[in-house]
Amino acid sequence: MEKLAVLGCGVVGSGVVELFEKNKQLIQKRCGKQLELAYILDLRDFPDKPYADKVVKDIQVILNDPEVSVVAECMGGVNPAFDFVKSCLEAGKSVSTSNKELVAAKGDILLKKAKEHDCNFFFEASVGGAIPIIRPLHKCLAANEFSAIAGILNGTTNFILNKMIKENMDFSSALALAQEKGYAEKDPTADIEGYDACRKICILSSLAFGKHVYPESVYTKGIREVELKDAKFCGQLGYSIKLIARVQKLDNGKILPAVLPMAVEEDNLLSQVNGVYNAIMVRGDGIGKAMFYGKGAGKFPTASAVLGDMIEQLQLEHTCISQTWQNIHDNSFIENFASFAAKYYFRTSSADVHQLTEIFGEIQEKTISTDEEETVFLTASPLNERELDKAVKTLAQNHIQVLAKYPVLES
Ligand code: HSE
Repeated sequence: MEKLAVLGCGVVGSGVVELFEKNKQLIQKRCGKQLELAYILDLRDFPDKPYADKVVKDIQVILNDPEVSVVAECMGGVNPAFDFVKSCLEAGKSVSTSNKELVAAKGDILLKKAKEHDCNFFFEASVGGAIPIIRPLHKCLAANEFSAIAGILNGTTNFILNKMIKENMDFSSALALAQEKGYAEKDPTADIEGYDACRKICILSSLAFGKHVYPESVYTKGIREVELKDAKFCGQLGYSIKLIARVQKLDNGKILPAVLPMAVEEDNLLSQVNGVYNAIMVRGDGIGKAMFYGKGAGKFPTASAVLGDMIEQLQLEHTCISQTWQNIHDNSFIENFASFAAKYYFRTSSADVHQLTEIFGEIQEKTISTDEEETVFLTASPLNERELDKAVKTLAQNHIQVLAKYPVLES
């Protein structure tokens, strides 16, 4: 008999407990072991739940039980999760986490700790909810040199944008609904401002490029300023506005990660990803492009990924997986966002097309004159931040205001 423990019984933790109990026979068969979910660590009691008698308040109970071999960490946040996970690994207990904040901030340290103690730190659930992406990057695609990853990595914001654009729901109601469905973070600012997607692209970048990418090094902008009218105009031009988390390897060998709302062309699969679904495009020299798709948030989709990691550990016994990246505090391998270049969608105050063409050289797609005499257009060539600044200044000198701008996702 092997014992399992779950730290944190919120949305994901309770999902792990319930999915485990529901599919226990199947899971035991797949692991070839008798299993018992023995402990649930939480400050709260759950007197009405069938697992009420498993709740403990002290991590030492779990640490001191030698029969506990695998622990799920679903508490969220860095503290006290970091100390608890570190202690579990030091006790030789493998950990599976859904906590992207923890992995993005301390993944390098915890992976090293796991290796030192001949156990594993798994985090499939930390990116893309139900979507297998960590294991494919680390294993199935390990023969590739990666050149780019781009995806929709936050279910809450994708759900909100969809509700606003397709159902005319206002921002607050859409957010409330995402919270009710268990998609949003405890503090939904992390979703709205792009911090959650940033943590996830940090994890994917660290894994793909082998050096720890810290959230502080990544340009991040959320969806707070996205206006419905731009979503509609973009739609008329054949694009959707999506919160994109992306990283690209540049010719100078550096990487450029960023999170920002972008205009995505309709024939790009990412533009068709709706609701709470996430999708991740990976580009490698062997595979060309591969796409991963599935539910990116929610109780059972995320619990499925946490349990998948636990099951792998139980099948492995104590084989240590060398899933790792370099612990590096010098972030000179990350290119400054000033080098980011893209074609742009613009909405400007009334302007004549000839004047715009003079400023931008050429503008792509047909222009749309709206009721309010605004002009919407796409630039034909990519602009980097310096060129973008210069163009905005020239527009201002010509008394043309930039009312909105979105970079276009490269195909
Ligand atoms: N708040 C996150 C999201 C949960 O909406 O994607 C899954 O990581």
